[in-house]
Amino acid sequence: MVDFHSHILPEIDDGAQSIEESLEMLRMLKAQGVNTVCLTPHYLAMDESPDEFLARREESYQKLKSAIDESGEEFPKLLLGAEVFYYPGICRMEELSKLTLQGTDLLLLEMPSCKWNEFTLREIEELYNNTGIRIVIAHIERYLDFQHKSTLERLFKGGVITQVNASFFISKRTRRKALKMFKLSHIGFIGTDCHNTKYRPPRMNEALQIIRDCKKIPEQVIADYIKNLEYEINNSF
Ligand SMILES: [Fe+2]
Repeated sequence: MVDFHSHILPEIDDGAQSIEESLEMLRMLKAQGVNTVCLTPHYLAMDESPDEFLARREESYQKLKSAIDESGEEFPKLLLGAEVFYYPGICRMEELSKLTLQGTDLLLLEMPSCKWNEFTLREIEELYNNTGIRIVIAHIERYLDFQHKSTLERLFKGGVITQVNASFFISKRTRRKALKMFKLSHIGFIGTDCHNTKYRPPRMNEALQIIRDCKKIPEQVIADYIKNLEYEINNSF
C-alpha cells in the first residue's frame, strides 16, 4: 500500500519536528502495511524558488536517510515530492516540473478553500494540457462543497486526478460520501496527510479497513485501485 501524502520529512514544514518523530511516523505506517510513502512537504511559491525548496528538502531527506541507515530497521520505500499551493499564474512557473513526485509526472496541488473561478479552472487545464504534468488535487474532499458539480466533472474529464485523506473515510460525518466516491472510482490516491504522531498521526489502516468492510464496494473496485496505484508509482517513467 502507498501513502500518497505525508509531512514526515523532519523540520521542513509544519509536519515532523524532529528526526525521531519522522522515524516514529514511518514505523507507524509500516505497521499499518504501507510499503511506499510519498514525502510531500508544503511548497509556497511566495516564500522560495523551487531550487531553494529542493535544497531544503534534500537536506532534510539526507538527515532522515542517515538516521534510517543507522537504525538498521526496515522502513517503507520513500519517494520525494511536494504539496504545491496553487497561486494565480502557476501555469507560467517554469520550474514546476521539478516539484513532481519522484519518478512520475504527478504534481500534488493544494487548492484554495473557496469556489474556484473560471481563471483558476483554465489554469489547471493549461497545466495538464500544455506542461506534461498531471495534476493530483490534494485532499479534494475539503473543496467539494464549494464547487459546482459541473466543475468537478469538467476536471475529471480533463484528466485531473484526486487525492483524498484517510480521515475522509474515518470521519463518520463524511464516510458515506467517501465510500461512494471510492465505489465510483473517483479517487485516484489515498494519503494520510500525517503531520505528527499525536494530533495528526498516520491512520491508513483504519481507512482501508472501512473500505474493505463496506459491502457495497465490490472486490474488483479495490483491486483496480491497488493496481492503478502500483502502476502510477512504479511504472510512470
Ligand atoms: Fe498536506
